[in-house]
Amino acid sequence: MPVLPRPRGPLSAAVLDVLAGRRAAADLSGALSDALARDPDPLGDDVQLALYVCYELHYRSFDGVADDLEWDPDLLALRGRLEGLFLDAVRAGVDGGDDVQAAVDALLVEPADGSGPSWHLARDGERWQLDEYVALRSLYHLKEADPQAWVIPRLDGVAGRAKAALMTVEHDEYGAGRAERVHARIFAAMMEGLGLDTSYGAYLDVAPAPVLATVNIMSLFGLHRRWRGASVGQFALIEITSPPGAARLVAAIERLGLPQEVTAFYAEHVEADAVHEQLVRRELLAGLLEREPELAADVVLGIQASTLLEDALADYVVASWSAGESALLASAERSAA
Ligand SMILES: [Fe+2]
Ligand SMILES: [Fe+2]
Repeated sequence: MPVLPRPRGPLSAAVLDVLAGRRAAADLSGALSDALARDPDPLGDDVQLALYVCYELHYRSFDGVADDLEWDPDLLALRGRLEGLFLDAVRAGVDGGDDVQAAVDALLVEPADGSGPSWHLARDGERWQLDEYVALRSLYHLKEADPQAWVIPRLDGVAGRAKAALMTVEHDEYGAGRAERVHARIFAAMMEGLGLDTSYGAYLDVAPAPVLATVNIMSLFGLHRRWRGASVGQFALIEITSPPGAARLVAAIERLGLPQEVTAFYAEHVEADAVHEQLVRRELLAGLLEREPELAADVVLGIQASTLLEDALADYVVASWSAGESALLASAERSAA
């Protein structure tokens, strides 16, 4: 099982102490008030790591952590406060609105010359940069598409367009009945081909806040029924924007002369997500809004929130590389936190 990460500030330290059994969960409210009085950055390392480890209790958890802590009321109360801070920060950074069509149309416009990591890697990225990118993305792809699975029971099965479409895409994400085709497994095969550590959570300690935030937003939207529209919007964003980025990553891997098992994950997403994109637009989004039109603003929020956080991650990675630095957190930084 994954080991608990190192803390990155007072909030994550308090949560990790509870998970490791060094502190009672009932003592969290004091730690939380102290930390909140210091006005923590909602998108910074301490808040994002605290949220990330709280969410992991609902996925695979960590070695030595009591299973019952998943539903501990004090931990859930703390998580709720941090979710409020996170959502406020995200909402402050997006336009909002309830025009789903316009939000989707905005995703379909690909710049002729973009600036994110896939553009950088396709143009002249180096092998160590590809390794870093894949290591950082492993936090999501080794649990692809688990956060979106939480939305399934929240969709109407009788007026089943949205549910059937979501399940068709999820079925593919989970290998369509073939274990070797599960996307998490194809991703792990790529990591193996690059000589990376495929164990779940292996790169959590070196993943900076912008990486954690992209995964946390999926967990937040997935875990709350109230955010089912945003979860669907976020899922739509992934499926619609994936093919061109995946094609650039295939080109990058081929340019670096790496073998076929290393290109397989992104090659799969060029093809599969072209189909998924159609399903998501014509059936999932249309079906959801036909049944629950009042969720339009939440769908837009899901699309815009993930776009905002993905852009922040892209800027962080490219800025690090442009400065000749690693995009991974250094171990010195981690132990100083
Ligand atoms: Fe996938
Ligand atoms: Fe997909």
